[in-house]
Amino acid sequence: MNKNSVYIETYGCQMNVADSELVMGILKNYGYEITSDANKANVVLLNTCSIRDNAEQRIYGRLGNFKTLKGQNPDLIVGVLGCMAERLRKDLIEEKKIVDLVVGPDEYRRLPELIDVAFNGEKGIGVKLSRTETYDDIIPYREDGLQAWISVMRGCDKFCSFCVVPFTRGRERSRALNSVVNEIMLLSQRGFREITLLGQNVNSYLDNGNDFADLLAASAAVDRKMRIRFTTSHPQDLSDKLLYTIAEHQNICNYIHLPVQSGSNRILELMNRTYSIEHYLGLIDKARKIIPGVSFSTDIISGFPTESYEDHVMTLDVMRQVKYDGAYMFKYSPREGTKSFKMDNDVPEDIKSKRLQEIIELQRQISFEVNQAILNKEEIVLVEGLSRKSEQFLAGRTGTNKVVIFPFDENIKEGSDVKVKINRATSATLFGDFQEFVDPDNETLALTA
Ligand code: 5AD
Ligand code: SF4
Repeated sequence: MNKNSVYIETYGCQMNVADSELVMGILKNYGYEITSDANKANVVLLNTCSIRDNAEQRIYGRLGNFKTLKGQNPDLIVGVLGCMAERLRKDLIEEKKIVDLVVGPDEYRRLPELIDVAFNGEKGIGVKLSRTETYDDIIPYREDGLQAWISVMRGCDKFCSFCVVPFTRGRERSRALNSVVNEIMLLSQRGFREITLLGQNVNSYLDNGNDFADLLAASAAVDRKMRIRFTTSHPQDLSDKLLYTIAEHQNICNYIHLPVQSGSNRILELMNRTYSIEHYLGLIDKARKIIPGVSFSTDIISGFPTESYEDHVMTLDVMRQVKYDGAYMFKYSPREGTKSFKMDNDVPEDIKSKRLQEIIELQRQISFEVNQAILNKEEIVLVEGLSRKSEQFLAGRTGTNKVVIFPFDENIKEGSDVKVKINRATSATLFGDFQEFVDPDNETLALTA
């Protein structure tokens, strides 16, 4: 029997995307081939997410599909990796008989060994969390491309009261600055053009006295033609030094993902977010002064326990004040083991939905207005390829992470940097015309100011 073909499917955040690449790197080193067809694999892995109940439900649905596959091929190994593996552990194996392998985020080094255990007919279980594992020495497996995600730290020590991440991904720990810089160098040599540095709270990064601003500066210096992005920042730890670093380096994108979660101080306190709205808005003002043209995105939770209509209106107010370029918006989902799980989940489902709809609709209007303000302006776009909807158009992104669509031209290749004049905008997309090629070394990546 060929035990050498693995298929992996990834759910949840970009951190999981980066982890799947690590897993593929580990398994390739051990002689596995990666296949994109589950039917051809002997090992199928789901890298999972536990952040909200609906994320887990989707994965249960997918496991149902694999049951059919296993019916056809009883030797198939089905593995659950990531946050759900960590959260549910043995329960997963007891509840879902088809699961042979349960491996949490800090035990991926043991995957080859645990897969062998599963091939020998036992269950492969590795769910210990580590205070030190950063997979520094492992080269993730990546297909060639333009964009790469690099995890620079793991875990989270913030313990927001609603969040399961500190329990599923463990304590915060940073990767060595040199190992991140070396990885970026290799990616630059392979032609990658955009790097996103990832961490649950990148502002807590610390390696031998180097903070996140130092890491960002060192990353930006590797290749000035490479765009550098990062996510996620916590409003409590966003330093002035970091803002000045973003402003100083033209290849660091002028874009900050700064989750606010709620506009009500009372709710923020219950969420254990450790900042007030006044502090948050002050930070936004300061960032706008230091980094002209900076844009923001955010995360918002609607229907946290005890959230009143007044609290909800405060969230809408903050959205209007900040005018986010984009937002990820969620209904509160109680997660077992978290502090807020013990609070009464007292906002009725229909009210949660209604509030979420209002938040989504307001953000749509705001995104539309923000984008209208870009009409007739020129944007620097990194070309990603053909537009998804039509081969007559090309698509790319601005430094502020907006998708730009413009007419196809055979001289414009994937990975080119071009100036596009914007002539139409919806809430989600900008449209325009090619003006000229630009050298990203000499241009600032955000011209939206
Ligand atoms: N319910 C709803 N949303 C959540 N998030 C985290 N935990 C929960 C939860 N229990 C959201 C937060 C966080 C984003 C990654 O997911 O907004 O910033
Ligand atoms: Fe979860 Fe808060 Fe940590 Fe983000 S900062 S991962 S929301 S605990």
